[in-house]
Amino acid sequence: MTATDTARLGGEAHESLPDVKSVIGPALRAVVDRLPEEVRGVVGYHFGWLTATGRPATGGEGKMVRPALAVYSALACGATVDDAVPAAVAVQLVHEFSLLHDDVMDGDRTRRHRPSTWTVFGVPAAVLAGDALLVEASLALANSGRDGAAPGMVMLSSAVRRLVAGQCADMDFETRDDVALSECVVMAQGKTAALLGCCCALGALFGGGTPEQVDCLRRFGEGIGLVFQLVDDILGIWGDPASTGKPAKSDLANRKKSLPVLFSLTSGTAAGERLAELYAVDRPLTSAELVHAAELVETAGGRHWAQSQADMALAEALACLRTVTPALTVVEGLVDLAHLIARRDH
Ligand code: IPE
Ligand code: IPE
Ligand code: MG
Ligand code: MG
Repeated sequence: MTATDTARLGGEAHESLPDVKSVIGPALRAVVDRLPEEVRGVVGYHFGWLTATGRPATGGEGKMVRPALAVYSALACGATVDDAVPAAVAVQLVHEFSLLHDDVMDGDRTRRHRPSTWTVFGVPAAVLAGDALLVEASLALANSGRDGAAPGMVMLSSAVRRLVAGQCADMDFETRDDVALSECVVMAQGKTAALLGCCCALGALFGGGTPEQVDCLRRFGEGIGLVFQLVDDILGIWGDPASTGKPAKSDLANRKKSLPVLFSLTSGTAAGERLAELYAVDRPLTSAELVHAAELVETAGGRHWAQSQADMALAEALACLRTVTPALTVVEGLVDLAHLIARRDH
């Protein structure tokens, strides 16, 4: 890692995330500028760069965790930030595609503190904008001119395949009452961890990492991905919408079998049984019932279990990094990022 890279990324993940943004932001804007005019305004709104009427906007961007993982993984293999740009852009485009579709599927009306894209432009426009971004993600790799382009496209496609399977399971679970905890973990690994693992593997690949480094970083990313979803599920129930920018308790309202909920439903406790009864009510739950459902998840142990699983998955992911540390030039950025993901509030 060069001195410039160190300066760009800062000493700590807190400072480094905006710096990764400043490298990847212009590359993402270049992609959006090339989109067909019909979807450009929708995507610009979704990315937080435009208002609903197409005027410049700020403050509605994502955290850019995935590009940061790709960049740090490339750096960890001895490469520069620039080496990682196609990988970092591609994973963020896939992520944005998944959010556009996810809010339609979940019926969620708020994302990143703003009305979600489908509520502003309609479902067809949001779906098509997502489709356009998925295509651009592949093109970002295909047109990169790098050695890793072809294997990288296979890696990214495999992650999207798992993401789709995970999202199918997530939706399916809403109406099933026989979901096993192990199935729920596989669902979370598919919908979220597969892409985070891919971020690291793709960054390592574009950074010229050895197959062992690529594999180790993928395992690290997958582990962090599970932590990410466990924390997301906790925030989905007990997070403050003023911080998360997402609707309060929407997972409970949608009868999601998120990880803490599923643990509680299968806990064999009285609170778990009461929660199952509430989930079976054939009408929208009232605000008071949603608060009660959150209390029941907590009483049945779901919150504590999810937090301890996150702690364990974090430790295992960090151990993956340590197994090849002698071969990796820098891992501090990844370690900081992992801790940041584990204790985030949004
Ligand atoms: C939200 O991801 C979707 C999940 C996988 C849980 P982020 O929390 O990374 O979303 P942004 O991009 O920062 O808004
Ligand atoms: C996360 O979905 C995974 C994807 C978007 C692919 P969720 O539905 O759990 O995430 P949020 O809470 O809406 O961001
Ligand atoms: Mg959602
Ligand atoms: Mg969802």
